[in-house]
Amino acid sequence: MERISTGIDELDAKLSGGYVKGKGILVTGASGTGKTIFALHFIYRSCLDGKKCMLIATEETPEDILHQGGILGLDLNKYYENGLLTIERVFESRSYQADQKKKYGFETEGLDIDLPYLADSVTEGTDIVVIDNIGVFTLRLTAQDFREQFDVLNYTLDKKGYTTIFIMDDTAYNMTHQIADYSVYGSVKLVVKENPYTGKMERYMGVPKMRSTNILPDMVMFEITSEGIKLKKSKQ
Ligand SMILES: Nc1ncnc2c1ncn2[C@@H]1O[C@H](COP(=O)(O)OP(=O)(O)OP(=O)(O)O)[C@@H](O)[C@H]1O
Ligand SMILES: [Mg+2]
Repeated sequence: MERISTGIDELDAKLSGGYVKGKGILVTGASGTGKTIFALHFIYRSCLDGKKCMLIATEETPEDILHQGGILGLDLNKYYENGLLTIERVFESRSYQADQKKKYGFETEGLDIDLPYLADSVTEGTDIVVIDNIGVFTLRLTAQDFREQFDVLNYTLDKKGYTTIFIMDDTAYNMTHQIADYSVYGSVKLVVKENPYTGKMERYMGVPKMRSTNILPDMVMFEITSEGIKLKKSKQ
């Protein structure tokens, strides 16, 4: 199976070379745990390798995303300008749209849409898709509706051969009973927790599932530095 670099060397080593090409990976974590930065590593590395990337962003503007990448040594400006990276902004709610219409006289695309619809916005020839964050699409869905819609989205992107990162915030992930894990090929969890011995907050990354890959399901400590995510040494 062809592997694609995650953009984080230590994680590639842990995953026998990286993600399996053409499959969907779920990244979950609470706010501020590093989900967006984690995905920026993947996008940056993919752009360096000449892969066509698409980021569907629900929460941040392209400017904020490019800025965040820049201060971590993941300068995506060039790729955004030459079209290798597309950032699609999807807005937050119908009320936001109504507000926009009232204020500015135009309507924006809303999040009050079915998940499979997101696959339509990916242009032909794309290699890498990141959706940050699918949680905002799930608040009005039952767990069963979410599962059905997420399965269709995942299946559609898989059939088209896109390697996809689905970012989902922990609130939506828990509200849908963590069932998103079952649909995807692999999942990565980011956690910030207190070290009981030192009282300090620490960042951890776990890979509880990666099909066709020999993984240790332990949590590995990491830091976010001026060079982005750095994993500490683990047993594997
Ligand atoms: N240059 C930097 N050096 C160290 N840490 C940084 C730097 N830039 C950002 N961070 C850390 O990264 C965290 C944010 O990471 P990120 O935006 O990826 O989180 P997230 O999980 O996507 O959050 P949300 O769910 O709110 O979108 C910040 O809270 C900050 O602690
Ligand atoms: Mg984020």
